[in-house]
Amino acid sequence: MEHTEARPHRGWASRWIFILAATGSAVGLGNIWKFPYITGEYGGGAFVLVYLACILVVGIPVMMAEVMLGRRGRRNPISSMEALAKEAGAPAAWSLIGWAGMLAGLMILSFYSVVAGWVLDYILRMADGSLTGASSENVTQAFTGLLTNRNELLGWHTAFILMTVAIVAGGVSKGLGNAARILMPLLFVLLLLLLGYSLASGDATRAFHFMFDFNASKLSGEAVLVALGHAFFTLSLGMGAMLAYGSYMPGKASIGGTVLMIAFLDTLIALIAGMAIFPLVFAHGLEPGSGPGLMFMSLPTAFGNMPGGGLFGTLFFILVGIAALTSAISLIEPGVAWLNETWHVKRLRASILLGLVGWLGGVACIFSNNWLETGPTDGWYVFETLDFVASNVMLPLGGLLIALFAGWAMKAPSVREELRDLHPALYGAWRVVIRFIAPIGIAVVFLNSTGLLKLG
Ligand code: PHE
Repeated sequence: MEHTEARPHRGWASRWIFILAATGSAVGLGNIWKFPYITGEYGGGAFVLVYLACILVVGIPVMMAEVMLGRRGRRNPISSMEALAKEAGAPAAWSLIGWAGMLAGLMILSFYSVVAGWVLDYILRMADGSLTGASSENVTQAFTGLLTNRNELLGWHTAFILMTVAIVAGGVSKGLGNAARILMPLLFVLLLLLLGYSLASGDATRAFHFMFDFNASKLSGEAVLVALGHAFFTLSLGMGAMLAYGSYMPGKASIGGTVLMIAFLDTLIALIAGMAIFPLVFAHGLEPGSGPGLMFMSLPTAFGNMPGGGLFGTLFFILVGIAALTSAISLIEPGVAWLNETWHVKRLRASILLGLVGWLGGVACIFSNNWLETGPTDGWYVFETLDFVASNVMLPLGGLLIALFAGWAMKAPSVREELRDLHPALYGAWRVVIRFIAPIGIAVVFLNSTGLLKLG
């Protein structure tokens, strides 16, 4: 059978490295930058609950499906889908999942790397004390200054792409695996340090209420779509990253347990990030709904005016940089693996090529903005469009196709073989979710938010 062929690439050294690498992909700017600011924009508690429901009902089952497809396909996402479609006697067009995913990955990398560039800049700004004692106007000015300085933006964006390319070029076990092994433990330690600092010196009660008080009146159809899109984004689903990572997973490891662990860590880290950021924001009388600038304006203002803020602020941005890097590598790994396996392009070349595409996308973001006239919370054009289309349209649709393939196209015995250690009741439940609940849920949220279907 095709899927037992020898692989051209080496896999993760162990199940633990897979967990660390996949968690590294999942935990990124999505958790620390995006989750807090969209929670702020969509009003807090109700949004967080919908997001948690999306993770549980759709995210985890789809992630199991995606990792399962990868491990059974044992190749890059495009070739895996071709091989699996053949095995199932289904049309080869299912490889569209891989193609669309590769495109979505490059679209995400484009704006992701620009934001990661800001993060690199802020590591230095926090460390050199230039924001110490700054008022919120000073910090807003500093941020606007960065956003309108295209050379600086380009420099940081380029630096981040280069780091990403360097790791992916190193291959699965030496590049991706080692990055996960070294960077992820560091990330956990930094995060706990920051949580302690924030709880000790910020307004934790208010932050808690903001994040967890349920106020249904704040929930719009758009908020639900954004919550669903974010569930996919934060778990790195629907674009082939988990499929690619799953293809390097040891054959004996349990998919259900492993996926549960990854999703749990990702959610926990998003909530901890919220509880590390909002207390500081509230303690300084700042607004949580300030959009993408939340982490770059409100938070540095808070750090700049607290004892130890310089040190903890620096650590915070180092943490965010690490999180971004271990995610960015998974955005191009699917395409790099495909170029490498199917076209025999050397890894170094393939990584440079895809890095270049992402770099160009980032350049488009940088040069199309209108930050000079509109200020830092508006005027994002290409940036916002790439984010919206990739995160809220392509990822959910990719997830929908993955669910349909795993639930309907693939032969049940092949599925069961990969998920063999799942308890029969859990397997039955997963199957109902993946065949009916997840696809219908995604479709309804999608149609409702686009106005094609009117609910209530
Ligand atoms: N999950 C990453 C984050 O939360 C982003 C990402 C999306 C990475 C899709 C890979 C694939 O930041």
